[in-house]
Amino acid sequence: MHKDIKEILFADTEIQARVAEIGAALTDEYSEAAARGEEVILLSVLRGAAIFMADLARATEIPLEMDYMALSSYGRGTTSSGEVKIVKDLTSDIQGKHVVVVEDILDSGLTLQFLINYLQQRDPASIEVITLLRKRAKAQADIKCAHIGFECPDEFIVGYGLDYAERYRNLPYIGILKPEVYE
Ligand code: IMP
Ligand code: MG
Repeated sequence: MHKDIKEILFADTEIQARVAEIGAALTDEYSEAAARGEEVILLSVLRGAAIFMADLARATEIPLEMDYMALSSYGRGTTSSGEVKIVKDLTSDIQGKHVVVVEDILDSGLTLQFLINYLQQRDPASIEVITLLRKRAKAQADIKCAHIGFECPDEFIVGYGLDYAERYRNLPYIGILKPEVYE
């Protein structure tokens, strides 16, 4: 285990097993639409969710497009500023497509609330949200998630895409960062 990690919450194998389940659920949900020629696009919020989306895409059998947006809300801190900015916009036209938003972690929900409002203005056929992790306990915007990988404690978490000041994204597991690293 990395010296800055207090505790491993989800091991590599546990994450892969859950990703396989969610991938299979996506195949079930969208195979009829895909057979009718409707398009599905996985949209990941950079940079944290890119690793999850890369694994999820390979656990899914439907034809799909992949796109990325970058939003900033946290800066280098460990709590949300509440102000969301678009750092990188969509590349694809999502009009008439089924958009599957893939997020790493749902905390206050402000990031996803902003994103969903933004996507709705672009007239997609549907929007669904998948989040790998959801933190409990905090007041959250009312975001409906079609799939949640794992519920997690209200602590600062890193690994499998999640960072603190751009570090720890490449840990293969998800763990709690030792508070002395950021305090
Ligand atoms: P929200 O807008 O408060 O829901 O924050 C969501 C975003 O904040 C996520 O996409 C992450 O990038 C980041 N975030 C929230 N909690 C954590 C954490 O515990 N570790 C790392 N990043 C986090
Ligand atoms: Mg993020």
